[in-house]
Amino acid sequence: MCGIIGYIGKQKAAPVILEGLKRLEYRGYDSAGVATLYDGHFDTAKKAGRVDGLIKATKAQKLPGTTGIGHTRWATHGGVTDTNAHPHISNDGKIALIHNGVIENYVGIKKFLTGKGYTFTSETDTEVLCNLIDYHYQKEPVTKEGSRFLEAVRKTLRHVEGTYGIAVMCADCPAEIVAARKGSPLILGVGDGEYMLASDVAAIISRTQNVVYLKDGEMVHMTAKNFTITTLEAEDVSPVIDTVSWNIEDAELNGYAHFMEKEIFEQPAALENTMRGRFSEDGSTAQFGGLNISAADFRQIDRFHFLACGSAWHACLVAEHLIERFARVPVEVDYASEFRYRNTPLDRSTLFFTVSQSGETIDTLAAMREAKRKGYKVLAINNVVGSTIAREADGGVYQHVGPEIGVASTKAFTSQLLLGAMLALYIGRMRDMSFSDGVDYVNALKSAPQLVRQVLEQAPKIREIAKRYAHYHDFLFLGRLSLFPVALEGALKLKEISYIHAEGYPAAEMKHGPIALISEQCPSLFLVPAGEMFNKVVSSMQEIKARKGKIIAVLSTGCELPAGLADDVIHIPECHEAVLPIIATVPVQLLSYYITVELGRDVDKPRNLAKSVTVE
Ligand code: F6R
Repeated sequence: MCGIIGYIGKQKAAPVILEGLKRLEYRGYDSAGVATLYDGHFDTAKKAGRVDGLIKATKAQKLPGTTGIGHTRWATHGGVTDTNAHPHISNDGKIALIHNGVIENYVGIKKFLTGKGYTFTSETDTEVLCNLIDYHYQKEPVTKEGSRFLEAVRKTLRHVEGTYGIAVMCADCPAEIVAARKGSPLILGVGDGEYMLASDVAAIISRTQNVVYLKDGEMVHMTAKNFTITTLEAEDVSPVIDTVSWNIEDAELNGYAHFMEKEIFEQPAALENTMRGRFSEDGSTAQFGGLNISAADFRQIDRFHFLACGSAWHACLVAEHLIERFARVPVEVDYASEFRYRNTPLDRSTLFFTVSQSGETIDTLAAMREAKRKGYKVLAINNVVGSTIAREADGGVYQHVGPEIGVASTKAFTSQLLLGAMLALYIGRMRDMSFSDGVDYVNALKSAPQLVRQVLEQAPKIREIAKRYAHYHDFLFLGRLSLFPVALEGALKLKEISYIHAEGYPAAEMKHGPIALISEQCPSLFLVPAGEMFNKVVSSMQEIKARKGKIIAVLSTGCELPAGLADDVIHIPECHEAVLPIIATVPVQLLSYYITVELGRDVDKPRNLAKSVTVE
């Protein structure tokens, strides 16, 4: 989704902003732009396409000015054109604005402004907002000179419906930026003699690790020397400066070809970080610091309700399986986007969990607010520290896997699987799970990083397999029980980065429709672990083979398949049920990654996708 960066300091703003825009590329975007303020006017460069295109075509880094704003746009209102790209400048050249989010009442505002003589060159809601700020700026009494610009923005935002993260410059105010947020993330970076704004820490991490996470309804007024935070109602806010726990190295490729590859290979360390310090001293259960709910209250919960989107939703389906299996407590899993409008009847003794890597996904955030509005406690599983969901939740658990930059979730997903498994243990041990079963479970979880390493060692073999399958146009991913969500995840990974059509199904469900797709042209990947379902999955494989479908089997070491049944086999170590989904995920990640590399597609920045989806 759209990205924001702003800079005030002693350096030329444009190079800082362009570097920030490069670091925001992973969020997904289709055009980019920058404006700097110099000698009472704006120098602006905007371009549809990649940031590199902006740099090349406009020599943007040569812009003078030590105050500036930059933006990566993910189109909502109006096509992908240079004109629709941000920043937008008001008719009289006084106001420059970048904006994330959607101004829902922009049609009415546009009509009002047109009546006042304003004209518009773009199709965007942002240009309307920009001119409304200008309108209020012109009307604001000149006597309040110091704050005239700030007050004009404040007044404007009171008339606006929708969501926004904005950064605004005024040509009359050298070295000033006003920014505000409602529903779109915004961070203030406090550097050494300089201040920055960003929608995402990644944009400014090369310059500072000290940040203020702005809250909805807050505005920041930055000058070259200081900053103040106020609410839309003009109340003062005391800023809390947090230190980001990761640094620039974590956001670099460090020798890998793509962030997705790097993040797949980081998974053993990521899993270690997720579980560090989270097992009881006696080694029989999990413990979590930030749940903000006592063990006694937790024991009273009769039902868990998980809300998430995309890969995180798949992780919730695995959590459902493990919690019901090991803790014997019913679990409901909802797409956050559906839950918020479904008005589902809820049991009073329900505890909600939201799961979101970014902690900014708008549907998950809105679903959480809906559950809270109805009086339910909501705990959050998030990776990004200080994210909106993390801050608004009643408590929660951080994933601690560092920045995930590849658009396709990998290490965040397996870390969510791990936390789901740990929750199942935590809840199970409060109820019927025995001490010795708890100890076995903990030991199994502790072995997960090493087991993942074993699967990663097969990367060269999986790469060879990928070469043989890259030319297909359709794929099925099939698994049962806790591996059905892994099949869904495998299909999602493949389609989102390679653009090959893929579907995930419970293996036995395949004969109720999807089997019609099977031919020599549609291969299937089967997840075939050792255990009670082994023979049943093998029967499903036979049904595919009988129809000439090619088969890749992800098979537990030690299991044997009938000769000739699988065309290709990737082995995974035999393991405890609680870690099986994690271990089985790694081959499907690698296969999707290598197929995409083989096809020469843009792994880290797949078309149309955004890393965190901050519009509905
Ligand atoms: C797929 C993927 C998405 C996200 C989804 C939710 O690889 O990354 O499906 O899982 O957009 O994002 P978060 O977890 O940030 O809420």
